[in-house]
Amino acid sequence: MLISAFQTMWSGAHAPASRPPPAGTPRGGARRTFAGVLPVADGSTLGGAAFRLPGAGLPHTTDGRQAAARTLDGMRQIRIPPVAPRRPGEPEADLTALVVIHRAMLTDLDRLAAMLSSPGEPPASPERAAAVRDYTASLLTEIDHHHVNEDDVLWPVIERSAGQVIDLGPLTDDHHALAPVLARCRSVLHRDDRTLGRALGELRDLLADHIGDEEREVFPVIRRHVPRAALAWVAKTIEKRAPLRQMVFTVPWLARHAEPAELDRLLRDAGPPARLLLAATRRRWRARERLVFGT
Ligand SMILES: [Fe+2]
Repeated sequence: MLISAFQTMWSGAHAPASRPPPAGTPRGGARRTFAGVLPVADGSTLGGAAFRLPGAGLPHTTDGRQAAARTLDGMRQIRIPPVAPRRPGEPEADLTALVVIHRAMLTDLDRLAAMLSSPGEPPASPERAAAVRDYTASLLTEIDHHHVNEDDVLWPVIERSAGQVIDLGPLTDDHHALAPVLARCRSVLHRDDRTLGRALGELRDLLADHIGDEEREVFPVIRRHVPRAALAWVAKTIEKRAPLRQMVFTVPWLARHAEPAELDRLLRDAGPPARLLLAATRRRWRARERLVFGT
């Protein structure tokens, strides 16, 4: 989900978060904010002047913990290259992928929670009940991966581009707070419809708040400070990081929730492999969606 000389300042302790972390939230070392100049040792450069940070090239998370401790099964570790801040006049980053995945997560949580909270009569067939659980499991994995990718890939790139303009700590705290809610959804995945529907509704409410904050606070910072090429690198990196078994869900799922113009932009930027994967999976995915939602 970029790089030459950058001023670096280590802020020391974690900047005060607008919301305290939930009890038991694991915290890492000192939070880093950046604002200085170091020579580039190596690595490619995206944008104008290239920048390199101490620790660049190592697995990185926003609060300094090792990415390996949080990376989900099947997702490889990422090396974050140095990043050149966007210069005035350069094109803004394309946020289409983030907009679409946010919409896809909330739309599906909404419709699953509503459907499961008001089970139809007669009850769903065993085949449909299993398909609903299977689809829900894929959606929960998407949400999990999205948060890990933000922490491991997108946040470091924003920090390298925007420096102290934004404190991403509260949004990382949100991810930690959402993790047990996701776990709760998984733990009741095979319970009765109403129990699963309630858990998904709770997740939807928390995630909607979080996404609202993210789009209000982070999107303007990305547009102003993150080079278009850097955000494109984030998207490519996340795409390459995902296990194929999940991409078989992800690609047609995003296509389903994208507006036509958005899908054109996503496919243009994604390249031939994603276009082939969409062509190969779309029909089957839509049949799966019809079985789950009846639409
Ligand atoms: Fe997030």
